[in-house]
Amino acid sequence: MTTPLNGKTALVTGSTSGIGRAIADVLADRGVHVIVSGRSAERGAQAVAEIREAGGKADFVQADLSSADSTRALAQHARSVTGRIDILVNNAGVFPEGATTETTEEVFDAVYNTNVKAPLFLVAELVPGMVERGGGAIVNVSSFVADKAAPDRIAYSSSKAALDNLTKAWAKQYGPSGVRVNSVAPGPVLSEEIQAAAAGDPRTAAAVAHLPARRFGLPREIAEAVAYLASEDAAFVHGAFLSVDGGASLV
Ligand SMILES: NC(=O)c1ccc[n+]([C@@H]2O[C@H](COP(=O)([O-])OP(=O)(O)OC[C@H]3O[C@@H](n4cnc5c(N)ncnc54)[C@H](OP(=O)(O)O)[C@@H]3O)[C@@H](O)[C@H]2O)c1
Repeated sequence: MTTPLNGKTALVTGSTSGIGRAIADVLADRGVHVIVSGRSAERGAQAVAEIREAGGKADFVQADLSSADSTRALAQHARSVTGRIDILVNNAGVFPEGATTETTEEVFDAVYNTNVKAPLFLVAELVPGMVERGGGAIVNVSSFVADKAAPDRIAYSSSKAALDNLTKAWAKQYGPSGVRVNSVAPGPVLSEEIQAAAAGDPRTAAAVAHLPARRFGLPREIAEAVAYLASEDAAFVHGAFLSVDGGASLV
């Protein structure tokens, strides 16, 4: 259990499902007023309702992170709801399969817009306020493939390597102003529901048999790492890449 984050505010992109949803839940459990975001208004409303039912604070701001304008608009709208953003979690991501010769311009642009361009313009919009207040935390959700490279998901793995470079650059630039920038690199993660539905399927077991952990991770396991990096427990942690991957980066 990390230190409570009572009174803080956070924007979590891609929190209408999967890992982002778990991050929103965990931050709200720690006392953060969370802005849930994604394209799906229905899943956004459901996330907000469930967080509020559990006693947390949340609002939904719909956004499609496909352009700089829509990304800036998300940051401005999120800030107008809570008054300020203390924690930014760049989690939204798309990860289509495709080798170099199969990658269309459309797919490349979709991957880079969501995975690289959106984090850059969100930080550009929100970090000046953090610097002015003398504190803030940015956590980028990367992937174990950023470092290893994945020839069969070339746009995806290269986009996460670009995001890792942004993490380092921002940690150098904004750390002296009190804004810590770090990254969590998940391994293969599946929701509890999908894992339960796939239990006994030999293909699912085979997909992770080579991992030291010999299983998929759970969204909540990634979310706990994000909450740690956003908290004062990580006050001396700048520009770190925290692998939460069942050992995937080792094999
Ligand atoms: N799952 C894994 O095994 C794994 C492993 C390593 C890293 N990761 C990383 O973890 C992050 C979350 O992955 P996940 O597995 O939780 O994926 P997911 O369940 O598919 O969720 C992706 C989230 O991103 C949002 N999103 C996608 N495109 C968007 C766009 N154009 N504009 C706004 N929001 C958009 C989606 O919201 P809407 O559908 O509402 O638009 C959704 O909330 C990603 O960055 C991914 O690369 C995942």
